[in-house]
Amino acid sequence: MTIVTLASHDAVVVRLGVDLPYDLRMMASCASCLLPLPDQARFCPSCGHEVMAVAAEERRVVTVVFADLVGYTALSEHLDPERVKRLIDAAFERLISDINSFGGRVDKVLGDGIVALFGAPVAHEDDADRAIRAAMQMHESLSRFVHDQADLDGPLQLRIGINTGEVVVGSVSGTADYTAMGDVVNVAARLQTLAPPNGTFIGDSTSVLASDEIVRELVDDVDVRGRSQTERVWRVVGRQRRLPSVVSRRDRPFVGRATQRELLASVMTMVAGGRSAVVSVSGEAGSGKTRLVSEALEDFPSRNLTLFAGVCAPYGENNVWSPIATALFRRLDLAAGVPPDQLRALLRNKAVELYAFDHDDSQLDRFVEGTLHLMGYPSDLDRIAPAQSREALFTYIVDGLRRRTAAGPVVLWIDDLQWADVLIIELLQRIARSLADRPLLIITAQRDDADLAWPPAVDHPITVRMPLDPLERGEAARLVTSVVGDTATEALIDQLYERSGGNPLFLTELAELAKANPTSTALPGSLRALIAARLDRLPTSQRSILDNAAVLGASGPIDALSKFAAEMHQDFDDSDVEILADDGLIELDGSNWRFRSDVVREVAYQTLTKLVRAQRHAGTASVMAHSPIIPMDQIAHHAASAAELIAEIGPVPGVAVNITDQAVALLRDAARRSIDVGA
Ligand SMILES: Nc1ncnc2c1ncn2[C@@H]1O[C@H](COP(=O)(O)OP(=O)(O)OP(=O)(O)O)[C@@H](O)[C@H]1O
Ligand SMILES: [Mg+2]
Repeated sequence: MTIVTLASHDAVVVRLGVDLPYDLRMMASCASCLLPLPDQARFCPSCGHEVMAVAAEERRVVTVVFADLVGYTALSEHLDPERVKRLIDAAFERLISDINSFGGRVDKVLGDGIVALFGAPVAHEDDADRAIRAAMQMHESLSRFVHDQADLDGPLQLRIGINTGEVVVGSVSGTADYTAMGDVVNVAARLQTLAPPNGTFIGDSTSVLASDEIVRELVDDVDVRGRSQTERVWRVVGRQRRLPSVVSRRDRPFVGRATQRELLASVMTMVAGGRSAVVSVSGEAGSGKTRLVSEALEDFPSRNLTLFAGVCAPYGENNVWSPIATALFRRLDLAAGVPPDQLRALLRNKAVELYAFDHDDSQLDRFVEGTLHLMGYPSDLDRIAPAQSREALFTYIVDGLRRRTAAGPVVLWIDDLQWADVLIIELLQRIARSLADRPLLIITAQRDDADLAWPPAVDHPITVRMPLDPLERGEAARLVTSVVGDTATEALIDQLYERSGGNPLFLTELAELAKANPTSTALPGSLRALIAARLDRLPTSQRSILDNAAVLGASGPIDALSKFAAEMHQDFDDSDVEILADDGLIELDGSNWRFRSDVVREVAYQTLTKLVRAQRHAGTASVMAHSPIIPMDQIAHHAASAAELIAEIGPVPGVAVNITDQAVALLRDAARRSIDVGA
């Protein structure tokens, strides 16, 4: 099914017509009967199976949601089958839309059940939360739907089981269906059967990844039928909505970033002295943007500072104004969950108390209605056309901020700007332009792969772009020691620095893991999800380069990447390599590349199926064998990697069956040569 990519590879080796020292090459073969395929064949001449150019299979960590309708059978007994079908169709339409709205993908609809995947074909860093929140929404949608149907007297409810783990995803042989296979799917199905009607059970692997916004209680260690081990099972109780955090974890000492802190201190002094400024901090996930800003703001050189701090959410946020609304909410010191009917009166009192409005101030009503609108509640602004209400809000916010700057410097701090709606960006541009003569600091943090019209290109007196680079070795050592303790050896620090590439989040998490289990080389699930999501956002041409590089190793010549792409019949553009370097995924040194962090290589490599890894290692070995300058041990490494994979998964099309013998011969040769040269 997926041999097409490698078919081209093998064809190239054969076309070169070079006598290989070891016969690693093989013709492309049929996915169904494994017999050789002629070049360009559309059907296998031996068994007639179609040769499909389908999306490659991948290994992915996914969260599987199994939802089953309870009450369906009783319904079928009482209602006409046509009515039942229409009812179920309408209910499913709502449920599927819930799944899609949280970024999931419906894998199958099985009569009265739905299977959905979160994390494939595209991963998000918070797929576990998304899956659970989608499940909660599905229960709610179904109950609302049932309530609206006059002729339904019996209950129609869902049981939902959710589990997370590694699966193989890809097209089902001979069809265009995309699905996931793996034990994690069976466990999710089993959890679904255990869950009560209207309930959601999640496996431990999902619970570990879920954020603390998801309230759950331990059900038990359950013997999942047909499996040897028990599985810890949790029941989802609800969601604890909190104002999003604008502070990152502070339980470790802050290291490095001295230049950035000095620069921020100078900018803040200028703002405290009456100037306005825009600072845009950018960097990859976990590079320390939130932490840097929150540390720096603590040192703001003015006592009467007004800080508005908001954060943008990646999904599930219906209110585009939410980052501004949360900032205001905090400022007004309102408790979350105030009932809407009390909010208007409460807001009036707060405005008078905190913002020095008079009770009969004509601006007071505008303030209250504008605030209600920002928070997503009905307000007078709903009665005017959207373009006008937007303009009214912009004016209200700009005026409000101007009013605050009369009392002292103001900081507007918006985190995670990469997820901001375009309206928020327009609003920031308007604020920057309109209040350029006020003591106002707009400070934002954004991931550096985001494409935003921010910060404003021109026209602002002080604009600072502040990209965050990885930590230096010495800074990383301090961070690792703060986690592991004084027992952290230089060797451990070196190893963690290499693996993390100096990213503070990666470093902290890997160090925590090393502390708990010094011999483990596992990758924390949350890191894998974060990196997988980042890799999935890359355009195909760049992603292929990284995937190929992950097979080649931690570093190598750029020329090898271009050759690899040619073998795979992939387009290759040098500028993609440069973009990958600009984005901090790889580093370039003359004509060589290297992965900036090993964890990125690990995730890219783990995503390839073992079959594809085996094919690519074998292919790499056979191509390298042509080159007189490539050391024998490198060729042997690739052949041996292919052999190991085949030992795990059995014969693979495109890889010689005697690869193990060949790998042994190559390793023996490599060893002999190193002895010969006295290495
Ligand atoms: N300079 C630093 N010294 C010590 N710890 C740091 C430093 N920078 C970041 N950290 C820690 O690394 C983790 C990630 O940092 P932070 O949340 O600030 O990253 P971020 O760039 O905001 O990531 P994201 O893009 O996901 O929002 C946190 O636990 C933080 O405390
Ligand atoms: Mg952050």
